[in-house]
Amino acid sequence: MKIFVTGGAGFIGSNFIRHVLSLKKDYQIVNYDKLTYAGNLANLDGVAEHTKYSFVKGDICDLQAVEKAMKGCHAVVHFAAESHVDRSIYEPGPVIETNMTGTAVMLQVARKLQVEKFVHISTDEVYGDMRPGQFADEESQLQPSSPYSASKAGSDLLVRSYVRTYGFPAVITRSSNNYGPYQFPEKFLPLVITNAMDNKALPIYGDGKQQRDWLHVEDNCRGVLAVLERGREGQVYNLGGIDIEENLSVVKHVLRLMGKPESLLSYVKDRPGHDRRYALRCEKMEKELGWTPSIPLEQGLLQTIDWYKNNSAWLAGVRGGDYRSYYAKYYENRDHSLQAI
Ligand code: NAD
Ligand code: DAU
Repeated sequence: MKIFVTGGAGFIGSNFIRHVLSLKKDYQIVNYDKLTYAGNLANLDGVAEHTKYSFVKGDICDLQAVEKAMKGCHAVVHFAAESHVDRSIYEPGPVIETNMTGTAVMLQVARKLQVEKFVHISTDEVYGDMRPGQFADEESQLQPSSPYSASKAGSDLLVRSYVRTYGFPAVITRSSNNYGPYQFPEKFLPLVITNAMDNKALPIYGDGKQQRDWLHVEDNCRGVLAVLERGREGQVYNLGGIDIEENLSVVKHVLRLMGKPESLLSYVKDRPGHDRRYALRCEKMEKELGWTPSIPLEQGLLQTIDWYKNNSAWLAGVRGGDYRSYYAKYYENRDHSLQAI
């Protein structure tokens, strides 16, 4: 089985490639990635030399390049996306281009080349804000709130249209907030861990009472592989974690585990349109594919904190260049930068 993985130099994609190569001796992987600010070949340390792995630098919006690279592949796992909600609010254009046009190109080429399975990686954010006590299952309405989640919902609908119109063999996964090794520190948990390591302020948006469903990236990768191998064509599968927690309580948890003071907490202006709560029902993954999440938040946080502490060279690499100016622009003068949106 030769798998075409897009976005394999990003956080989840790189963890997925490592997961597959360690378990599946008869699988080959072609990693197709544009290497945006979020793509980093250092995420694939130790993988580059693997005989079953190859890398092609390219944009998913470039039809000819995608077709050339995808030839001979049996399946596609499509992770590539602009994945950060805040950036999508500040600058929606590139997010819509990659997440929607890029997915449209991927579908067009994969259909032409008659791939046997297409796994589209989506997100719980497409269901939008959940009221207290409410959970989204795979049939729930799509009510995205941000340009990011709207572009993901749009790409889900394109996938669905290919299934219905062409009988295209696609499957969609919608997972909750992933965390774990190799996550770029623009996202909440790695930002909090790495700022706390340096005794820097931890920015909490609004009142910090927004709830997220935390899923360790290894649990997600195990779920995506199960969907690739056994997911039913045309279906959607939710993948959520064990713990739904308020942001503030997760940060306090991290501070306790790191032995750092709560005086590092810093309440800052809220994200515009910020969803209060995400919560998924995942019985379908359990019933059909025997998947349940296995890593509790406490265990996952300890492992993740250790990973960031032990990978200072990786961290110095990703924090150089663009990250510094991004951080200065959106955190060091946050009230002002949000007014400019
Ligand atoms: P990431 O930002 O870490 O990585 C994205 C990767 O895609 C990068 O390697 C980047 O270079 C590549 N990429 C971006 N634009 C591209 C383009 N035009 N052509 C080719 N490659 C391009 O993202 P992630 O957190 O690993 O997320 C992966 C997927 O999972 C995304 O589709 C995201 O929407 C989805 N998802 C993420 C989470 C999460 O918590 N991180 C949760 C649910 C779903
Ligand atoms: O739910 C799945 C989604 O999870 C994925 O589809 C996205 O790709 C991924 O980025 C993530 O989106 P979120 O917006 O939930 O993640 P983020 O890490 O940006 O923020 C998590 C929560 O923390 C959210 O409520 C906003 C808050 N936050 C975030 C940052 C960066 C803060 O309070 N302070 C911060 O500095």
